Amino acid sequence: MKKINIVNGPQNVSVIIQGCMRMPGLTKEAAAEVIRTAYDSGINFYDHASCYGEDGAAEKKFAEAFPLSGVKREDIYIQSKCGLCFDRNEFDWTKENILSSVDDSLSRLKVEYLDTLLLHRPDLLYDPEEVAEAFDRLEKSGKVRFFGVSNLVPMQIELLKKYVKQPLIINQVQLSLEQSQLIDQALYMNNKTTEFSINRDGNCLDYCRLSDITIQAWSPLQIGMFGGTFIDNPDFPELNKALAELAEREKVSKTAIALAWILRHPAKMQAIIGTMNPEHIKDACMAADVKLSHHDWYALYLAAGKYLP
Ligand SMILES: NC(=O)c1ccc[n+]([C@@H]2O[C@H](COP(=O)([O-])OP(=O)(O)OC[C@H]3O[C@@H](n4cnc5c(N)ncnc54)[C@H](OP(=O)(O)O)[C@@H]3O)[C@@H](O)[C@H]2O)c1
Repeated sequence: MKKINIVNGPQNVSVIIQGCMRMPGLTKEAAAEVIRTAYDSGINFYDHASCYGEDGAAEKKFAEAFPLSGVKREDIYIQSKCGLCFDRNEFDWTKENILSSVDDSLSRLKVEYLDTLLLHRPDLLYDPEEVAEAFDRLEKSGKVRFFGVSNLVPMQIELLKKYVKQPLIINQVQLSLEQSQLIDQALYMNNKTTEFSINRDGNCLDYCRLSDITIQAWSPLQIGMFGGTFIDNPDFPELNKALAELAEREKVSKTAIALAWILRHPAKMQAIIGTMNPEHIKDACMAADVKLSHHDWYALYLAAGKYLP
């Protein structure tokens, strides 16, 4: 598995991350198999959030399963996120909530520290000075090593950066062949005839590249927000044909090609897979060794329904 160094952050991290959002429904044995299969396939980075599953069920299941997996804590990076409080119907980046959320995650995960903590989605009432105080406390206490954000536009990150001392090293955002807004706008800029030209994220991709913020692509295989996968989906015949041709040429699965499309981008992103099926995990991890050409990348982009203006 190809590894990258996150600027100002963890080194030698796998380009594919195992997402744990879908872990709550598994038995602890099945969860252990997911953790182990991911690790054996080269993954050393696991993504969590306080809101994955009721009462942090994903983090709890991970902790129950971890000893059975045989993987060592010091050999992996564990990331969690805070700020989405679905139980209270609000988003909360107050100092109290950030601090208590990290304590809860550490206790559910049964670990001493998080390698990275991300603020999940913006709390519309956030006060950056409070965030800064919380981050200082978490860093000084050794509970969190590195900090980042998720689903934030550049100006929100700039506002945080004015107060927060620690580098913000990650922005976790949605990106897939089907949900490629992060990339589209640059191509169609100023074009009144298509919705692809709408700037939905304040030029997040270029901003992150300029600011040494690593993008982590979530839901790399999903249609819309959790609409099921486009892989083998009859509603996406052209895309599946293009994926199948490259999959045959590269002797990997269509899933691996769809992920390789994200990894081919020069922004050096990580892709977060969510499958809980060990065979799908092994398939997905082969993406890291696929070398798509410039032309392959465009062929997939066009097969996903885009056109060249
Ligand atoms: N920051 C955020 O706001 C945010 C939002 C959403 C997610 N995330 C993170 O991103 C991770 C991934 O999200 P996701 O689960 O939506 O990602 P995904 O990898 O795009 O989707 C995984 C789903 O696709 C299914 N799938 C069907 N066929 C598949 C195939 N051939 N290969 C692989 N998967 C296949 C999987 O089912 P099987 O299990 O049966 O394979 C699973 O239900 C999450 O675990 C979480 O860590 C972050």
